[in-house]
Amino acid sequence: MRVLVTGGAGYIGSHTLVELLGQAHDVLVLDNLENSSPVVIDRVNALTNGNLEFVEGDIRDDAALDTVMDSFRPDAVIHFAGLKAVGDSMEQPLSYYDTNVRGTIGVLRAMDKVGCTRIIFSSSATVYGEPVYLPYDEAHPTNPTSVYGRTKLVSEHIISDWANASGGTGILLRYFNPVGAHASATLGEHPDGVPNNLMPFIAQVAVGKRKALSIFGDDYETPDGTGQRDYIHVVDLARAHVAAVNFAQGAKGAKTFNIGTGQPYSVREMVAAFETACGKDIPVVVAPRRAGDIAAMQADASLAKAEMGWAAEHDLNDMAASTWAWQSANPNGYED
Ligand code: NAD
Ligand code: UFG
Repeated sequence: MRVLVTGGAGYIGSHTLVELLGQAHDVLVLDNLENSSPVVIDRVNALTNGNLEFVEGDIRDDAALDTVMDSFRPDAVIHFAGLKAVGDSMEQPLSYYDTNVRGTIGVLRAMDKVGCTRIIFSSSATVYGEPVYLPYDEAHPTNPTSVYGRTKLVSEHIISDWANASGGTGILLRYFNPVGAHASATLGEHPDGVPNNLMPFIAQVAVGKRKALSIFGDDYETPDGTGQRDYIHVVDLARAHVAAVNFAQGAKGAKTFNIGTGQPYSVREMVAAFETACGKDIPVVVAPRRAGDIAAMQADASLAKAEMGWAAEHDLNDMAASTWAWQSANPNGYED
């Protein structure tokens, strides 16, 4: 298939490119490089058949989208491009709605013009909000507590309405907590500035860039008092997109899938796994709870297995070991 990947130079996108090219799909990336580096494209080409096409452009630029769609004529679009920092989204709501929501509308319009009927969308478990029950299944009520979460939920509704009206197919993937890196240690996550997320922060402590991890609260109602999340290896997540592209060929309308492992780990368990992987102690300090955090969450990911034949294969050790291999080989990310 011919697959257009928006935001393909990013963390999850780059790993997905490797899996798509490995399955002999023809792939074109559209990315404005706002949160990524052109080096990613070279590294993906080095890991694969080298046939990746790349166009630098913005999903909010209708003319750029039309040009790409017209020349590439995709059978499906995987739509990763977007902004993802929860804190920033509360300070710059219009910018988040513009990129995440208007950008998604632009992608759908451009697809319509060339008769492309399939889209795979990067949604998030954050659309569920405070758990009413756990594990979250796809029928759990949605009540996002951040602007970022609302942009994802609104985009889900837009894609769903578009698919129902047009006879198209929208696969809405609700990711849990992506971590880890490619086994080659040439692709991984490199956040700008101080990492917001746990795993990149631990990794930067391990290479000596940060002094200690602050554990945001150890008085939650969890077995060790620290927050629990459903961490998923980015290569498993990437493969979920390949499964979704295949599934979309035989599906109509919108379909939502949780993409997680179903196995929660606490902050302290993540630190312990990383210490084993890197062979060093990770200094920690206990800090107050972070505003907006919930105690625990995990996926019921059984629907993705039943309908798409996808399930996570990598375990916690793989997540920690691959993050360490990437971080220690590329302490400055793609600038090394
Ligand atoms: P990322 O920032 O690494 O990748 C996003 C890519 O989109 C970047 O390469 C960036 O340059 C590009 N981009 C941003 N705005 C653009 C625009 N206007 N036009 C073209 N390209 C643009 O993020 P990621 O972690 O790979 O996340 C990918 C998607 O998955 C995002 O939509 C994100 O919201 C979603 N998601 C991420 C997580 C997570 O924890 N990483 C969890 C749930 C959902
Ligand atoms: N944590 C710390 N110290 C840190 C960073 C995180 O103790 O320095 C803790 C958090 O309190 C939480 C856990 O580690 O208990 C995980 O935190 P992350 O920030 O890594 O992940 P979140 O679950 O808070 O959020 C992530 C993404 C969101 C997404 C959400 C749901 O950042 O964009 O998953 O998918 F919406």
